[in-house]
Amino acid sequence: MKERLYITTPIYYVNAPPHIGHAYSTLVADVQNRFRKLKGQETFFLTGTDEHGDKIVQAAKKRGVAPREYVNEISAEFRATWPLLGIEYDRFIRTTDQDHMATVRAVLGKIYKNGEIIFREYEGLYCLGCERFYMERELVDGKCPDHGTEPVKTKEENYFFLMSRYQDWLVDHIRKNPDFITPERYRNEILSFLREPLEDLCISRPASRLTWGIPLPFDKKFVTYVWFDALINYLSGLGYPSDENFSKFWPFAEHVIAKDILKPHAIYWPIMLNAMGLPPFRHLHVHGYWQIKEQKMSKSLGNVIRPKDLVAAFGMDATRYCLIREMAFGLDASFSEDAIRTRINADLANDLGNLVSRSLTMISKYNDGRVPRPSVASGAGSQLKKAVLELVPQFEADVDAFEIHKALKKAWETMNIANKVIDTTAPWELAKDPLQREGLEDVLYTLLESIRIISILIYPVIPASAVKIQTALGLDPKTSLRLNQARKWGMLQPGTKTVRIPSLFPRIDAKKIDATGKDTERRRTVSSGPQNLEENTGDQIDIDLFKKVELKIAEITGAENIPKADRLLKLTVRCPEERTIVAGIAEHFRPEGLIGRKVIIVANLKPTKLKGVTSEGMLLVAKDEKGLHLTAISDQDVTPGAKIS
Ligand code: MSP
Repeated sequence: MKERLYITTPIYYVNAPPHIGHAYSTLVADVQNRFRKLKGQETFFLTGTDEHGDKIVQAAKKRGVAPREYVNEISAEFRATWPLLGIEYDRFIRTTDQDHMATVRAVLGKIYKNGEIIFREYEGLYCLGCERFYMERELVDGKCPDHGTEPVKTKEENYFFLMSRYQDWLVDHIRKNPDFITPERYRNEILSFLREPLEDLCISRPASRLTWGIPLPFDKKFVTYVWFDALINYLSGLGYPSDENFSKFWPFAEHVIAKDILKPHAIYWPIMLNAMGLPPFRHLHVHGYWQIKEQKMSKSLGNVIRPKDLVAAFGMDATRYCLIREMAFGLDASFSEDAIRTRINADLANDLGNLVSRSLTMISKYNDGRVPRPSVASGAGSQLKKAVLELVPQFEADVDAFEIHKALKKAWETMNIANKVIDTTAPWELAKDPLQREGLEDVLYTLLESIRIISILIYPVIPASAVKIQTALGLDPKTSLRLNQARKWGMLQPGTKTVRIPSLFPRIDAKKIDATGKDTERRRTVSSGPQNLEENTGDQIDIDLFKKVELKIAEITGAENIPKADRLLKLTVRCPEERTIVAGIAEHFRPEGLIGRKVIIVANLKPTKLKGVTSEGMLLVAKDEKGLHLTAISDQDVTPGAKIS
């Protein structure tokens, strides 16, 4: 059967509006969906909202509105958020949709008929405030963690799904399919949980206590409780059982979730499917939790980050890139605005933005804005070509393994090679010499092809920018954005008119997103070294004063972040002796992009200690409205240590 993709996110509870945790799962699904489309596969992407149950009734009560009014409002907020992030799903499902409710009832009826559901008495600890049963181990000092009250021992009759029957089948399935649950840590967690006998799953609540749910088809006095209603969305979303989308896409089902709902997805769900006579989903992809300063995001702590505020402050593509790049899939990640700013300035404005704008500017200046003739890429150009062609399968393998952060890291390393090729080949020098014409065209062609290929790869993460780049290269994104075109070198046709584009990603100064969503800006002077870049006073100075300043060429041989100093980088330079310079440029440059660059330093400043590191000089940078630029020297022949006079 032809490979396809059916990708889903959790359906989110509508007891609060979307935050970056919801946005991350939905973005991962969107990136995967776009990547598979790049490969030419047919896909179906489902997301939505989970709208039944006590939690929702309570949230509505708090607000003083009826549950239906409340769920309509919050569900609409989710729907309004996703387009801001460029998320393109095929269906937004709500558990209050008529077709979903009918599917849940049909499934329950079938399983009940098969004898998989029984009615029995249940005795447990019931919290009146939460209107739910608690397990002993969920309590804090014997009290409800939310209400601080002792739950009451209560007897209640309910319906139970006989899950325990399927325990051996499930263990066997997980063992035989190592990539059924990934990353491996979560698979191991489930296998270890399954060493103990499974309890049967309570699937109902008496309608006398909870009316906001789907009535059981075989007993009107009860409604379906949470998971049986929620998980079935993955089937009703495809029109199970009769819609052709179901037969077409179910065999390719992949679910994206976070670790909080691992158990229902890795245990209840495959067993429910098996009991229905359906094959299990193909893969369950489990990611970690976004935290804020090592703490859980929560309304009461006032630290909830809303995706719409991020998009308002940083833009759609930058937000997508940062969220995907900053979290290693499977592990928890700490959200920080500083990290976001650094990513935007270093990765997007500097590495990618400059690569594209420098290349297009050179094409415009030295080749009348047209794609030049390719020749056999030689020297630095051939290394770049090799790196780009090697990147494509590696990038694909990482995305397929849901390690998109790694794929991006590799793409950015390749962009750095391209940026260095510009510095080392210095096309502006080649342009001065008619005999170097072929060499010039060759470098420029290699750069454009590299940008073309890289922009296809990163399209799923930053779609709007990738489309802009492809258009600037004179391509039609409708046909040029295909993965198989990234595998081929030499697709750009000589003579094609290119278009210069305004900077893809403006640099971001210190911006603060506060929890209320206001975007307060607190501009700081960015320090380029131990001293702040003072505004020029306009005073004239004596030549003798200037002569005292010793300016030298230095080659950066090492660069690293300084712990607990967000703005500083520790640079090792050769000039020609080795020195350490602490530069306040961490928000603008990535350490790895600096290695090998030849820059200008002030060599005779008195050493000073910054965050425990002794700085023996100052790096000079240029500052304009776009931010900081290295005063990098393109003449590679210049010897580190050469004096500037
Ligand atoms: N309604 C259930 C899911 C039913 S799926 C059949 C639910 N809803 S939820 O609103 O609580 O969403 C949980 C999901 O939201 C997580 O699995 C994850 O996808 C996302 N996240 C919520 N908070 C998160 C973080 N702090 N970090 C990362 N993702 C998190 O559970």
